[in-house]
Amino acid sequence: MIKKCLFPAAGYGTRFLPATKSMPKEMMPVVNKPLIEYGVDEAIHAGMTDMCIVTGRGKHAIMDHFDMNFELEQQIAGTKKEELLGDIRGLMNSANFTYIRQREMKGLGHAILTGKPLVGDNPFAVVLADDLCVNGDQGVLAQMSALYNQFRCTIVAVQEVPESETHKYGVISGEMIKDNIYRVDDMVEKPDPGSAPSNLAIIGRYIMTPDIFDLIEETEPGKGGEIQITDALLKQAKTGCVLAYKFKGERFDCGSVEGYIDAINYCYENVYNK
Ligand code: UTP
Repeated sequence: MIKKCLFPAAGYGTRFLPATKSMPKEMMPVVNKPLIEYGVDEAIHAGMTDMCIVTGRGKHAIMDHFDMNFELEQQIAGTKKEELLGDIRGLMNSANFTYIRQREMKGLGHAILTGKPLVGDNPFAVVLADDLCVNGDQGVLAQMSALYNQFRCTIVAVQEVPESETHKYGVISGEMIKDNIYRVDDMVEKPDPGSAPSNLAIIGRYIMTPDIFDLIEETEPGKGGEIQITDALLKQAKTGCVLAYKFKGERFDCGSVEGYIDAINYCYENVYNK
């Protein structure tokens, strides 16, 4: 069983400036909950108990969110408003939260490597909280965790995107070995228009085996001087096995204004108060 879930949450969130100038992108609310709370909820529903969060400068609000606020608790104790804290109290009681700081923003691969002391020598999930995924009772992480129990290797979640969008993602190619499951043979980070190996784009949900850490350590900085997780995953695919899973459910790119608005509308209709 996968018990640990890593949340790389140190990025600057430049696409959402000025909102993210002093507020972590992961704390942007979708209806009445911050993005990262949806990710933690999804991980807990998938049976995970250790939330390992990679933070950076200006990210204190994330730690405060998953901690007691004594003054507030005292103020609303015994009133009707207390029930508004029910969900977050439930999450806090269901998981351990640990934090580590990424001192320099050297990319997602580097952020994941920074989380190594929290994750240890265990397989682990990775959630990019700005990708909000919703699928009723069986969330995307629960689907992937079940697959991991069957295949015991690294798994990336993929989604079909229009060709005009592939340049925004890591894109895989591979042979379909079962319904919605591909064995990855190639992976390109943000391919130039017209050169993507397929329309299957990697989104912000992964299960990784711990040998990924050595592979990241060997990875030279790629596009934009950042250590790309895609490069390390490609090495893993070439030397071992990486699966891509076309998940069931809705996914919203809340790092973009359009995706964020779509997420709010969808969650207000389908998730809020349900
Ligand atoms: P993004 O590519 O979305 O970057 O990172 P970003 O900084 O968050 O947002 P933009 O593009 O500037 O608007 C994907 C994920 O990786 C994390 C981010 O927090 C996000 O969850 N990340 C990225 C890190 O933790 N550290 C990094 O150095 C880079």
